[in-house]
Amino acid sequence: KGHIAEVEKFSADTPEAIEAFRIKYLGKKGLLNVFFAEFKNVPNNQKKEFGQTINELKQRATDKVNELKNALHHQTEEKGKFGDLTRPGNPIELGARHPISIVKNQIIDIFSRIGFNVSEGPEIEDDWHNFTALNLPEYHPARDMQDTFFVQTDPDILLRTHTSSVQVRYMENNKPPIRTISPGRVYRNEAISARSHCFFHQVEGLYIDKDVSFADLKQTLQYFTTELFGKSKIRLRPSYFPFTEPSAEVDVYWGLETETDYRMTKGTGWLEIMGCGMVDPNVLKNCGIDPEEYSGFAFGMGIDRIALLLHQISDIRLLSENDIRFLEQFKGAL
Ligand code: PHE
Repeated sequence: KGHIAEVEKFSADTPEAIEAFRIKYLGKKGLLNVFFAEFKNVPNNQKKEFGQTINELKQRATDKVNELKNALHHQTEEKGKFGDLTRPGNPIELGARHPISIVKNQIIDIFSRIGFNVSEGPEIEDDWHNFTALNLPEYHPARDMQDTFFVQTDPDILLRTHTSSVQVRYMENNKPPIRTISPGRVYRNEAISARSHCFFHQVEGLYIDKDVSFADLKQTLQYFTTELFGKSKIRLRPSYFPFTEPSAEVDVYWGLETETDYRMTKGTGWLEIMGCGMVDPNVLKNCGIDPEEYSGFAFGMGIDRIALLLHQISDIRLLSENDIRFLEQFKGAL
């Protein structure tokens, strides 16, 4: 009975003290087991009282251990809630800008210095803005150049395959002179590999005014590549796009003569970076601009591939995997 009183009085606030108490009473070699072993030696007329007493002791000791453990648990939880108020604060973690955004901003910056504004449009487009207005009527074979994702079964609604659709919208709503670039995400149903993805990012540019010539286009592109890559040579190769005539593919020389050599891991030579051309008169007409009065040029490039080049990234999929170890490497770049 003395033990029962002692158990009732006991208090502790460390896990070690509670455990010592438990072992003393409830452990394998604890007092209770000693008493239970003693039970057979107790005279018959005292057995009932002895039994009741040790059962009560066991119950009280067990309750005590649980009660103390709960109290302790509660206490540490409370502490956790408020933390250690004397602890110095955590430094604020700064994130990193995504390489696509870094390169996109560089491109926007370069063109805004020569008077281009930025225009945007929807990623879910209709057939008119993505194809028909751009001189790609239904059944035009060049539609196959861009494997299109259609939205459900409606052939009129699709994920834009290029941001030329934004240029159509811009021409419909603005009068020349027009100087605009259209950055944005585009979608094509292509197999995903280290070099291509089913979505990527473009910046397309459009310049419409009186007497705009092919020489203006070439000089603008030369200015652009020099600003982006350093001193660089470009080459225009004849090509075909339904919305420009004539059309060309722009290659930039990647090699010993460019200031960016040190950034390149492998390969020198001509590298294709964009398509361009003089806006087809049919496109101007479709967008409510008189081709007798105005002419213009357009160009379009993929941001992802340029980002791979500039930052020596070997796999385009890294750009959309959100791997923090990859993204953290762009900390500090603006
Ligand atoms: N829209 C073309 C593409 O996505 C690029 C381009 C734009 C070509 C403007 C010429 C003129 O492939």
